[in-house]
Formats: sequence, C-alpha cells, structure tokens
Amino acid sequence: MLRSKIAGIGYYVPERVVKNGDLVQIMDTTDEWIQERTGIQERRYGRKHEETTTTMAAAATRIACERAGIRPEDIDFIIFATLSPDYYFPGCGVLVQRELGITHREVGALDVRNQCSGFVYALSVADQFVRTGTYKNVLVVGSEMHSMGLDFSTRGRNVTVIFGDGAGAAILQPSDNPERGILATKLHSDGTYAEKLAFINPGCHGGYHMRKLGEEADLGYPPVETPGEIFFTPRMLQEGLYYPNMEGQFVFKMAVQKFPEVIFEALQAAGLTSADLDMLIPHQANLRISQFVQKKLGLRDDQVWNNIQRFGNTTAASIPIALCEAWEAGKIKDGDLVCLAAFGSGFTWASALLRWG
Ligand code: UT7
Repeated sequence: MLRSKIAGIGYYVPERVVKNGDLVQIMDTTDEWIQERTGIQERRYGRKHEETTTTMAAAATRIACERAGIRPEDIDFIIFATLSPDYYFPGCGVLVQRELGITHREVGALDVRNQCSGFVYALSVADQFVRTGTYKNVLVVGSEMHSMGLDFSTRGRNVTVIFGDGAGAAILQPSDNPERGILATKLHSDGTYAEKLAFINPGCHGGYHMRKLGEEADLGYPPVETPGEIFFTPRMLQEGLYYPNMEGQFVFKMAVQKFPEVIFEALQAAGLTSADLDMLIPHQANLRISQFVQKKLGLRDDQVWNNIQRFGNTTAASIPIALCEAWEAGKIKDGDLVCLAAFGSGFTWASALLRWG
C-alpha cells in the first residue's frame, strides 16, 4: 500500500491584531489573568463581513497548492474542518471549492465537525484515501472565524479571551519514498462529556440531552403541540445562550491526560518512542497544557512548537498553522519525526505521526 505525505502546507491569519489590553477595554479581564492562565498575549480577528472561515481557508490553500506544485484545480477531494462555518449548511467544503474556482470538476467535499481535533481527524481520512490510491491531491483544511461568534461581554470572558481566527491547509499526496509520510494516526472520542465544551444553540435538541442528564432543560421552547419548531427561543436570545460554553478546569484535566496517551499510542504503533521525536505540534489550547505534555514526553523547548502566545486558540486551524510556521522557520527538516496531537470538544482527541519529506 502507498503512503501519503504532506506535499505542501500553508496558513493565513488576518491582519488585525487584538491584544489582551484591547479585550480589557470591553470586558472585565486582565492581561495578567489571560497570560498567566493561557499564555496568550494576542490573537487575530478577521475583517467582519469581508473575511470568513471559507475565504481564510482559500488563502491558506493557495499557498499550500503552490508549495505542493499543483493548482487548486488539481485538487481531487476536499476535507474541511471547522466549528465556525460560514453557513449552518451547506458546509465550508463546497464553499471553498467555489472560492477556489474548482467548479469545472465534480470533486468531492467533506466537512469534519471535530473541533480542536478536526484537522488531525481530517488528515487521517485523507490518508486513507491517498494510501488506497483513491485520490492523488487531497486538500485538508482547518479554518475558524471565531470572532463572529463569541460573547464579548464579561459573561463570556472565560471562553472569549482564548480564541482567535485563522486557517491552515495541507495538500496530501502519495509519497514516492516509502520511508516518508504519515506513519500512524490515532482517533478517539468520548461523548459522555459532550456538553463540557459546547455550542449547543441553535439546534434541534429541544432540551433532550439536558433532561437525560438531569440538568435544566427549559430554554423557553413553545409547547410541544405548537406547529413547527424554532431553533432560537426568546430566552436564548435574552440570556445569550447561543454562545460557546466551557467548563475550563474539567476540560483541562482531561486534556493533560489524553494528549500524552494518544501521542504514546501513535509512537507505539510505529514502533518508536518519544526519544525518536524531533518535533511535537500540539493543538494550541493552552500553553500550560503544552508545557505539561512536553514534560511528560521529556522533550526540550525547541522540540515543541507553540504559537498560542500570538494567535490564541484557533481550534481546527491551530495545528496546520503551527506546523506550517515550524516548517517555515526551518525547524522541521527532511526525515524528521513529527507528531501532531489534539484534544477538545466532544470529547475527541487524536494524533498523527509523520516522517517529514
Ligand atoms: O481547545 C479546546 C480544549 N480547551 C482546553 O483544553 C481548555 C482547557 N481549560 C483551560 O485552558 C483553563 O481552564 C482556562 C484557561 C479556560 C481557565 O483557566 P482556569 O485556571 O481553569 O480558571 P477557572 O475557569 O477555574 O476560573 C478561575 C477564576 C474564576 O473566578 P472565581 O470563581 O475564582 O472568582 C473565573 O470567573 O477566573 C475567573 N475568570 C476570569 N478572570 C479574568 C474566568 N475567565 C476570566 C477572564 N479574566 N478572562
């Protein structure tokens, strides 16, 4: 069977820099709190109504294509990971297809809804297609326009200060060198804690999951006999129940457990250990999480790429942005063993082990 490799990678972040001090002007938070708890100093926000999750993805994709030596029209299949899509439906896969002008060919487009681990999940799906010879140029893209869907009042501060906008893209191709490419991917999920980090409204749940969990389910829905149904209720609008929510400490504890587990699992599958690793690209959730994982794996500072300080958490985009930055900085060279790892909402977590080149 063939092996797949990342033939080209690119990223795009919007120009507008939003520093912690800018957020201090609009909500009750401090630069010290944000830096101490997360490591974040600034993040980027896209130009409202001009940039979208799709346009940023297209910008990152054009760079990845150029570096892979292909044109966007050569892409056979698109896998798009995001939690902040332009539309509820259709997904961003078809929108980026149109944005890139790939409409003369009926390529396939698939949207992945796995939040922070979305890019690694998408990469794993692409890997299966390439290894089986189904497709030759698969676009794997993670992109987020978080700034359009955050609560900028003090109520939302525990979530809002963390997230930023951006996109990263990779072109996966068959590798002509059997020693190079994706060695292993590991994917996991546990829906038990689905609501611990979630964006639940609008949706069709009607309080169902909360009732099952024994939690408050009254979101002000009309009586069941009312014809039709509405996604948004007045209560949701009044109380801002249409924003993401997170039980930070709970998520943190799970993250520091699952990150190392899934990395060791991929290494083991490839018959390798953490001593063989040249570079770890962790999903940029929190600098403290990355530092914990680094210690657990016994890696030096220069073996872990962190950019959360400058970009915040860009969810599905964070791994390809960090991978691309590390590669552009010359920190990933031909033959290096690179591990990508993520944990987040779902919960879902995943890793991918690659021999670069
Ligand atoms: O990417 C997907 C996966 N996500 C993660 O892995 C995130 C994991 N969790 C975390 O990174 C951390 O839990 C956070 C950074 C989200 C929060 O840090 P924390 O140390 O766990 O803080 P906390 O939520 O326990 O809140 C501590 C205090 C609270 O005040 P009281 O109750 O102690 O008076 C919060 O209200 O900090 C308060 N707080 C803030 N204060 C200033 C929460 N957000 C803010 C804020 N500014 N932005």
